[in-house]
Order: sequence, then structure tokens, then C-alpha cells
Amino acid sequence: MTKILVTGAGGFIGGFIAEEGIRRNYEVYAGVRASSNLRYLPESAHTVVLTLSDKERLKRELAALGRFDYIIHNAGVTKCNKKTDFDLVNHQYTRHFVEALTETDTVPKKFLYVSSMAAYGSGNPKTLEPVKSSDTPRPDTLYGISKLKAEEFIRSIPDFPYLTVRPTGVYGPREKDYFVFLQTVNRHMEPAMGLRKQHLTFIYVTDLVRVMYLALESEYIRKAWFVSDGKEYDNREYAAIVKKHLDKWALFLPVPLFLVKTVSYTLDTVCGWFGVSPTLNRDKYKIMRATNWKCETEPLQKELGFVAEYDLDKGIEECIKWYKKEKWL
Ligand SMILES: NC(=O)c1ccc[n+]([C@@H]2O[C@H](COP(=O)([O-])OP(=O)(O)OC[C@H]3O[C@@H](n4cnc5c(N)ncnc54)[C@H](OP(=O)(O)O)[C@@H]3O)[C@@H](O)[C@H]2O)c1
Repeated sequence: MTKILVTGAGGFIGGFIAEEGIRRNYEVYAGVRASSNLRYLPESAHTVVLTLSDKERLKRELAALGRFDYIIHNAGVTKCNKKTDFDLVNHQYTRHFVEALTETDTVPKKFLYVSSMAAYGSGNPKTLEPVKSSDTPRPDTLYGISKLKAEEFIRSIPDFPYLTVRPTGVYGPREKDYFVFLQTVNRHMEPAMGLRKQHLTFIYVTDLVRVMYLALESEYIRKAWFVSDGKEYDNREYAAIVKKHLDKWALFLPVPLFLVKTVSYTLDTVCGWFGVSPTLNRDKYKIMRATNWKCETEPLQKELGFVAEYDLDKGIEECIKWYKKEKWL
């Protein structure tokens, strides 16, 4: 049986990675923290506590588990209270993990790192060219910088059998950030970043997870792919799809950029005092103000044969069904 370890298995994407592993008859080890929510983990997954913050302890934990065929390193922070936590968790803990694997002689056949399109930053707003792996990365958020540093570290280790995925915005059942927009539309409001058209891309969570397994099961090694559903949507189309599936009208509310910036920066600071991480923060502002979130998908299609099962219309319909069933909406 193929043995796989998934870090951050208690989170949104991690739960789906574990589920897909079970569906594929893998022996799944769900790497969590003592405080992780285990509610969405499949029962047949082995739950293992991994201490990414402490390399020596992590080495003992990994040595006890033995070598895995595959590892998906998905744990990471997309928002945090302390700015330094982006680098600490996304970059330093990835270093700990990779070094601990090397030092305990438990490097797997393939180690898939869940990076982000943010590691490259948004695309050129004038040419509207999609971001490509051959471009020079230009992350403009602390989050993006930390993901890029982790990618670069992994790549710098000779012969380390890494694969990297760089997903664009990931949505699906249980997701909590895009969900805020759905809630707002449900309350008849459609906020927008000014009147500028934004070129957005998305990937439905089960499609992203399928890409990960396609990559692990492929012949490729030491390679990275951007991941989106291959389509491009503007912000008004996105809102129209949400309104259609919620069956709600909503008042279009273009908010001036300077106001969004002020609110984001203020919330970030004030929530930081109380140890809370706001959905709207400095990094999110930079992500939201960007107008070109297009990324290349040809390599994904040609090399891994990936075709998205969900476009935004189908994916949002599924999400709304789930949010309603679970009484989130
Ligand atoms: N969502 C997106 O749109 C998106 C897009 C591109 C890339 N990504 C990447 O996808 C990965 C998963 O993100 P997600 O959206 O599923 O976020 P999430 O729901 O917040 O899950 C993050 C996971 O990482 C774990 N984690 C966070 N800090 C940790 C720490 N200090 N030590 C150990 N584990 C820690 C969390 O553990 P707990 O369960 O204990 O909280 C959680 O399981 C991240 O690496 C993120 O950068 C996400």
C-alpha cells in the first residue's frame, strides 16, 4: 500500500487531500497539531501529531513513522497576527521539515510542496499576460515572499525529490475566506474594489487535490506547476455566478481603493492587539487590489493531462449547496 503523509491535514485543503488519498487506496497519515480540528478527517486516516516548530522533536516523530512513499507538505498560514509568522511557519518550518527528513534518512520518493500563486505575485496589469513559471517571481505580500523562500530552499537541495504546486484562489466546501463574499451577497450586498475590472482565476478544491495526486503519480520530479481551472473570470462575472446560485439580488457597492486600504490596515493593527487574525488585512488588500490573477495552465494540461472537472459555475453551485446544508448560510 502506498504510504502518504499530509501536513496541515486538519485545515481546509488538507482534509480533502486526506480524503482523496483514502479514495485512491493509499495508507494516509494525517499530520496535525494537538489543537487541530479533526472533524473533517476521514476515519481511516492515521492521525499523527507533528511538531514542525521544533526540529529535534520532529526528527523523533518522523523517525518513529518510518519512510513515506509520498509527502504532501500543505501546512501553512495564509493570514496571521504577527507579521513574522509568515516567514516562521511557511518558510522556517518547511526548512525544519525538509532538514528533519534528510537527517533521519526518511526522504520520501516525492515531496510535494503546496506553494501559492502569491509566490510569484500578480501578473502585469497592462499586458494581462498570465504569470508563467519562466517569469521572475515578484511576490508583493509577506505571505507570497514566505512561500517563495520555502520553494527556493527546497529547490536548492541537490537531488531532493520535490514537486511544487502553485494554486491560485482555492474554494470549496468548508472554505472560510471566499465564503465571506458569499455571506455578503446573501445579505444583498456586492462589494467591489472600485470600478476596475479584475481578471480572476480559481480552482475548486477537489480539482486541486487531483492535480497533486496526478503529479505524485507522474514521472515528473523537481518541477512546479501553477494550478487554476484554466478559465478567467472578471469580478462581476464571479458575483453574477454567486447571485445566481444564491438566488439573491445584491446592491453593487464599489468601494474606493483608499477606503479598503484604510480599513484593511486598521483592522490588521487593531485585531493584532487582541490576538485575532482579520479576514481583511494588509496582505489581502494587496491581493485584492491586483487586477491580473491569470496564470499559465498549459503545462498542467500537457504534462499531467489535467482537465478541471469544476468551472466556477459548477463549483460555486456545489459550495452553496454545502454551506446551506451545513447551515453556514
Ligand atoms: N486557500 C487558498 O486559496 C490557497 C491558495 C494557494 C495556496 N494555499 C496553500 O494551501 C495550504 C493550505 O491552506 P488552507 O487554505 O487549507 O488553509 P487552512 O485551512 O488554514 O489550513 C492550514 C493548515 O496548516 C496548519 N498549520 C498552520 N500553522 C501551523 C503551524 N504553526 N504548525 C503546524 N501546522 C500549521 C493548520 O493547522 P491547524 O489545523 O492546527 O490549524 C492547517 O491544518 C497552505 O500552505 C496555503 O498557503 C492556499
